[in-house]
Amino acid sequence: MKIFLIGMMGSGKSTLGEMVSNILSIPFIDIDNEIEKSENMKIKDIFEKKGEKYFRVIESSYLEKLTQKNGPFVVSTGGGIILNSKNRYLLHNENTFYLKVSPNELKKRVHLENRPLLKNNRDNIIEIYQQRKELYEEFETIDITNLNEWESVAKIIYKLNIEKDLEVSSSFQNVRIQSNALKHIPDNNIIFLSEKVNQLYGSFFPQKKLILPNGEKTKDISYVLKAYEYLLENNVSRSDTLIGIGGGTITDFSGFVGTTYKRGMNFSFYPTTLLGQIDASIGGKNGIDFKRYKNVVGTINLPNKVIIDPISLLSLEDKLFLEGLIEGFKMCLIAGGDFYNFFKDNLELLLKRNLDKLSWFIKRSVEEKLRIVEKDFNDTGLRSSLNLGHTFGHAFEAITGISHGLSVGWGLIKEVEYFKEKNYLQKNYYLEIIELLEKLLPENIRKIQTNSKEMIHYIANDKKIGERKKIKMPILNSPGNVIIKEIDISEFFEIL
Ligand SMILES: NC(=O)c1ccc[n+]([C@@H]2O[C@H](COP(=O)([O-])OP(=O)(O)OC[C@H]3O[C@@H](n4cnc5c(N)ncnc54)[C@H](O)[C@@H]3O)[C@@H](O)[C@H]2O)c1
Repeated sequence: MKIFLIGMMGSGKSTLGEMVSNILSIPFIDIDNEIEKSENMKIKDIFEKKGEKYFRVIESSYLEKLTQKNGPFVVSTGGGIILNSKNRYLLHNENTFYLKVSPNELKKRVHLENRPLLKNNRDNIIEIYQQRKELYEEFETIDITNLNEWESVAKIIYKLNIEKDLEVSSSFQNVRIQSNALKHIPDNNIIFLSEKVNQLYGSFFPQKKLILPNGEKTKDISYVLKAYEYLLENNVSRSDTLIGIGGGTITDFSGFVGTTYKRGMNFSFYPTTLLGQIDASIGGKNGIDFKRYKNVVGTINLPNKVIIDPISLLSLEDKLFLEGLIEGFKMCLIAGGDFYNFFKDNLELLLKRNLDKLSWFIKRSVEEKLRIVEKDFNDTGLRSSLNLGHTFGHAFEAITGISHGLSVGWGLIKEVEYFKEKNYLQKNYYLEIIELLEKLLPENIRKIQTNSKEMIHYIANDKKIGERKKIKMPILNSPGNVIIKEIDISEFFEIL
């Protein structure tokens, strides 16, 4: 596949081109950079010393060579490339996308440095935009004016119609990983989704939908009542299918409504956050919050299908993406073996959201969670190994108010420190795990110091252990070897 990005200076072609290259594991070529390298001069200097005409001739010859070259690769072109009719002709025969940004936004984004046509005045960009607008709009247009980089890159990748499936091996829950699945949702279903997901992807599914607030707010009884009303108003029957599209809040909520409406209707999930894909949509726990208690009202019931579209993860904000990776890393520690090694070898690519690596990471995380859930569907014991990192993480979350996923990351760091101190975990594993967690967790979170007394008080109350002072906790002996052990919480004083 060859991809050409065109658009005004400042629209982000180079940054987005490089992101696309990392996501698809294909080379990235920036024509302006190539010209600077071959001329050994900045663009501004080429314009000044040799003139714009000279630059345009070299630019066109680069483009021509690239159109003749075999792919795959992604190319970022210079803003003025479309001024030449032969260039436009060549680009029309390729996968070319115009990254459209409104002139006022461009004025804010563009740097004056190395932009000879702006002549040190940002206002000139408006005139250049007006002159080129119609030529750009001859091409497939992606309006990224109000989108951040990750949201923009998601729009580009969805335009490529990548069709890739990955099998999740489980006879217990029906889960498929299918790139582009969001674009193929059957149109005779009722959809529940969050505002953000609707804003980004709502145009893919024009069918009837109930748009719910972003985040935890949705998991409230008032929205459950609204959902029942919505289903009744639309004459939804038990044999219809309710589809939840969104993060863990939407899948928890849709599963709960789907299980209780008319004593249970068909429901499926299209989870769109990493946490939703590897955790919340897997294992059948559905529910809502009540009063101050999280997930206190709920059901255990598997959805008919879970269809995971890894491309949707590209638009996640960094924090949410990291939270999912941390939860998945916990799953790697529990699984050990090939999954742990894969994570160690591919963390850099995972952080760059490489789609092949992400799909494999999702597959293995899901399989690992299903392996555990299958043995303990009703949550009577074994599932508690999934609480690795959560004993300290929950207390940290409650005390600092920092989000769940990041708190679990902090909890994992402190727990592995404890396991090493007590000789449960060998030092070489400890060092390896800490190195990985340092890449996953932002430094400002890692460095937060807690008050031991407050933490231990919280842990004792949370687990309702009263005077006994002992809690059951998952202990990591090595990646792939987690045991549940009774621990005297006074041991935590040295660590927390
Ligand atoms: N049922 C279970 O076993 C289980 C397990 C773990 C977590 N959970 C639940 O999951 C919930 C947390 O889920 P979450 O972390 O996915 O948060 P979330 O569902 O609140 O989503 C976070 C934000 O991301 C937005 N979003 C969703 N998909 C997006 C996308 N593709 N691009 C950009 N933005 C997107 C959402 O609109 C929301 O604003 C909690 O309520 C937790 O209790 C349940």
